[in-house]
Amino acid sequence: MNDIKSKIMRITKYTGFIIGLLLFMTGAKAQFVLPALPYSFDALVPHIDSVTMRIHYNNHHKAYVNNLNTAINRHPELKNRSLEDLLFGIAQVPDDIRTAVRNNGGGHFNHSFFWMLLSPKKTKPSSKLEEAIVSRFGSMDNFKTEFQKTAMSRFGSGWVWLTVSAGKLKIMSTPNQDNPVMGDAPEKGAPILALDVWEHAYYLNYQSNREAYVKAFWNIVNWDKVSDLYKSYK
Ligand SMILES: [Fe+2]
Repeated sequence: MNDIKSKIMRITKYTGFIIGLLLFMTGAKAQFVLPALPYSFDALVPHIDSVTMRIHYNNHHKAYVNNLNTAINRHPELKNRSLEDLLFGIAQVPDDIRTAVRNNGGGHFNHSFFWMLLSPKKTKPSSKLEEAIVSRFGSMDNFKTEFQKTAMSRFGSGWVWLTVSAGKLKIMSTPNQDNPVMGDAPEKGAPILALDVWEHAYYLNYQSNREAYVKAFWNIVNWDKVSDLYKSYK
């Protein structure tokens, strides 16, 4: 686990996708900040509509950041802790804010990760990643089918992940805003791909048709980023 943790810490610094370390001198202002989206709200149309994208980012993700800061402000001793550290050590977070940090810290981490895994540009997996996927799942199509099945079987809200653990690829799902890097996750791993299957991610465009949303996801996966992450974890 420490190996996964150190790799994730290195990669998050390398990619800069987690920006939430703005510690103000007074300690009274926001510690974590909403990272900039790497594309415009309408960049992923028709697969993700611009209204969903705007609400998802400006309302949902921003709320996770604000609520996380509110929780951390109640424990100033945590203000110099990184988001990754808080999630790895979730069991040691004080009782009175642990659920808030789990839900909102998880929400901040998961969405920051998700945004960078999407792209309007057509990309494809590196040959090394494709080889690993084919070796593990039989074919790219089989992999997508397994990923979709996992997405469809998540009851209620949650996430689907492709992770690397002990050098092996694995598809897994977490409820709510949990993720496989949380210290108390039943299945741990270093994530390289994620899909948000909360209804807020797709309901305006797809209504209750989660399957259509999951299938559309393959058109906007940023395989360049997924491949970089895979290379970093190998
Ligand atoms: Fe979301």
